[in-house]
Amino acid sequence: MKRRRFLVYTSTVAAGYLVGCGSTSNMGTSGGGGMQGGGNAGNSSQLPSSDVVQSTLPIPPLLKGRDAEGVMQYDVTMQEAEHGFFEGIKTATYALNGTYLGPTLLLRDGEEVSVNVTNRLKESTTLHGHGMHVPAVMDGAAHQPIAPNTTWSARYKVNQKACTNWYHPHLMGKTAEHVYKGLAGLIIIEDLESDALDLPKTYGVDDIPLVLQDRVFNSQGEIDYSPSRRDIMMGYIGDTYITNGAIEPTLSLEAKEVRFRILNGSNASVYTLGFDDNRTFKQIATDNSFLESPVSLKSVRLSPGERAEIVVDLTHDEGKTLLLKDLSRNKTFLKIDQIRATTKRTITPASLTSLVAFNPIDAKKTRKFVLGGGMGNLNINGASMDMNVINERVPLGDVEIWEVENSMMMSHNFHIHATHFRLLERNGSSANVAENEKGYKDVVYIPPHEKVKFIVKMVDYKDANSPYMYHCHFLEHEDAGMMGQFTVV
Ligand code: C2O
Ligand code: CU
Ligand code: CU
Repeated sequence: MKRRRFLVYTSTVAAGYLVGCGSTSNMGTSGGGGMQGGGNAGNSSQLPSSDVVQSTLPIPPLLKGRDAEGVMQYDVTMQEAEHGFFEGIKTATYALNGTYLGPTLLLRDGEEVSVNVTNRLKESTTLHGHGMHVPAVMDGAAHQPIAPNTTWSARYKVNQKACTNWYHPHLMGKTAEHVYKGLAGLIIIEDLESDALDLPKTYGVDDIPLVLQDRVFNSQGEIDYSPSRRDIMMGYIGDTYITNGAIEPTLSLEAKEVRFRILNGSNASVYTLGFDDNRTFKQIATDNSFLESPVSLKSVRLSPGERAEIVVDLTHDEGKTLLLKDLSRNKTFLKIDQIRATTKRTITPASLTSLVAFNPIDAKKTRKFVLGGGMGNLNINGASMDMNVINERVPLGDVEIWEVENSMMMSHNFHIHATHFRLLERNGSSANVAENEKGYKDVVYIPPHEKVKFIVKMVDYKDANSPYMYHCHFLEHEDAGMMGQFTVV
């Protein structure tokens, strides 16, 4: 066994981000996709990088449904496990089926499904389908706890466009810790439209899932979830970047168009993703749908919970290597090497889908949400999350405008369950809405002291007794109370 050297830093701040632009935090301003301003230095892992397991990119297994009398069954088990992030070390984790994260669920629009979640942990948790358009009782959020050694099933008919969603626990006050230990995974929805598009679509070969996270590991190589009061405010940010559960893994690809389905699966980090050669790529999808047309970009900013599908053209890159980085902290998520010849090609179409746009003139109501608070208390409109309070009642079928203001000096975002929305304005102007934010969204990033306005309509699943949630998706903030509940009435 390899001998390990333990480095113990005297200060978590001193050991932080002295490379690159040195800007790491969720504080300060950030405009249309640039760097984050300075502030929180994050927390440092205490193992040297020479101890990291040199790994190829793990591809989460694709879980296809098992047909039982017309209902596709997906079985996942939440369990304690041990995962190899570092040489000779078995790190204690939580996982679904495997040893870290979980399988990618492949669903089809129109199918009846039953996602059967067995909890083999020693504590209760939940499993929420983030981005899933399902009845509130099937949402797997705070009101659907799964006790140890029981199974809960989310049964519904898939009823939405092709997109990349994800799942994660949502137990009141415990979401951040449970996700941090490893409970999360992707949900891919396909439909007739996505079938017909000439896009890379061979899972794990040219259609690559990427769950991006950062972690703090202690000197024993254990995942260290111990946020201070300040970390809860600033977000618990680690300096060890992990991709599908491996630290800076490598991936060999063919010299052709390659699609990445990217999830910011971190607790509280905003990533600005791009390549080390500053190349242009195309974003083809947002959280809940394709974009109507691909958008050319050199970087894409994702806050916690947001997804982007991008297509990168490697046709002329045979033999080259390429790094996918978080440009805001100059950290590497993925090393693409051995780009090799191929004869198979796709040509991403100029038109991908058409989306439903609601007209602001039709809005029956404008709801306002102010994200606020101070040390140890985070809230929305002055109220911290209370499981027994329904904060908003939204009539089925009404078009509404929701205005969300970040009143604080730190970054937040805003996520709604039940359905997607369309962004109308940032800071009072539609011109501030970037082209790559114009698809269906379910999370929107809100820099300090900024405002967003979106338009939304509850189209299904009226149920006055079962709330959905809306919240900041910085998980420490959500757990500290920056969350509320609404019903569709
Ligand atoms: Cu990603 Cu309320 O969740
Ligand atoms: Cu959600
Ligand atoms: Cu927040």
